[in-house]
Amino acid sequence: MAIKLSNRIRMVKPSPTLTLSAKAKEMKDSGIDVINFGVGEPDFNTPDYIKSAAHKALDGNFTRYTANAGIIELRKAIAAKLERDNGIKYEPKQILVSPGAKASIINILIAACDAGDQVLMASPYWVSYPYQAMLANAEPVYVPTTLEDSYKINAATLAKVIADSPNAKVLILNSPGNPTGGVYTRAELEAIADLCIKHNILVISDEIYERLVYDGVKHISIASVRPEMINQTVVINGVSKAYAMTGWRLGYAAGPAEIIAAAGRVQEHATSCVNSITQKACVTALNEEDDSIEAMRKEFEKRRDFLYEELMKNPGLKCFKPQGAFYIMPDISSYLQNNKLGITDADKFCEVLLEKYHVALVAGGSFGLEGSVRFSYANSMQNLIEGAKRFAAFLKELS
Ligand SMILES: Cc1ncc(COP(=O)(O)O)c(C=O)c1O
Repeated sequence: MAIKLSNRIRMVKPSPTLTLSAKAKEMKDSGIDVINFGVGEPDFNTPDYIKSAAHKALDGNFTRYTANAGIIELRKAIAAKLERDNGIKYEPKQILVSPGAKASIINILIAACDAGDQVLMASPYWVSYPYQAMLANAEPVYVPTTLEDSYKINAATLAKVIADSPNAKVLILNSPGNPTGGVYTRAELEAIADLCIKHNILVISDEIYERLVYDGVKHISIASVRPEMINQTVVINGVSKAYAMTGWRLGYAAGPAEIIAAAGRVQEHATSCVNSITQKACVTALNEEDDSIEAMRKEFEKRRDFLYEELMKNPGLKCFKPQGAFYIMPDISSYLQNNKLGITDADKFCEVLLEKYHVALVAGGSFGLEGSVRFSYANSMQNLIEGAKRFAAFLKELS
């Protein structure tokens, strides 16, 4: 029988970062010295104080299904974190723990959207947002941003997009942002919040990179900037990036009880609770944080400084200096004109770079930004030094 796939899934393409990583790994396994700047995960090990808590949970046979929304001590620890760090108050019933922030976002989108609803997001965007909107039967709508605006949504542009989007239901905001590393200021968040309040738009505020901010910049949650916003924001966060726990799979959503309960019903019938051991480890991660977390942030800041400086040595390259997350996205368009290899787009640029120089980057088109490439500097300093050197050699060959 020929299986006809759903219209929804036919619109969804594989994640370019995962595809690239697989290709880079294949090359590495065949003995090629590949430097992979594609992966969005810390290269550090999970800190010992968290691993000890997991050992304890396993030895204590904490191995059964838990409450669908997460164990109460974890939801209390998350509520305490949100009050302490973000100045926003939630009851445990307003928190849903899911297998990763990725799962948190799609649970909320499925709970919030009907067919035809529009989900607004900045462009460039994190690769999964448009597909998550489509999987929830909604339509992604892009809010264009510019390098001059640090690739952040500007309220005047957002107002125009809202005016042209009669079914705008949700805005996904990502600060600190992937792929460009912008961090919204309080004033920028207030202007966006005022528009969302005026037009009854639910904000999904993806704050997964909250802890990875540089130059003394402070992360602010949009849920905290206007009293009304607590009732129309779902805050998304997790442990993958800040605590180097990508493989443990735990994220969470905090927001109005009604939508959290609805998203909980999605989860109940889709995946159920998060791994019980992971949940116990995360209670400790949040409640007993030690110096290792800040040490990782400092290391990322050092790497950002190094890579940004190296990239800026290449003439004609334009680049926003990221203030958060661990990505940097230079505009290479000046190298895509009249070059010696006849390369005219970033996809081909990345393909040849990988083949000839064994450096893996993700082309900007996957994030909605043609003419750019994304580096993840969640990579060792040694790899950054060598990778930046090879990248510069490729640009030289092109010019
Ligand atoms: C912007 C953004 N949100 C969410 C996630 C998902 O994180 P998690 O590992 O918690 O699913 C990622 C991971 O790359 C991300 O970049």
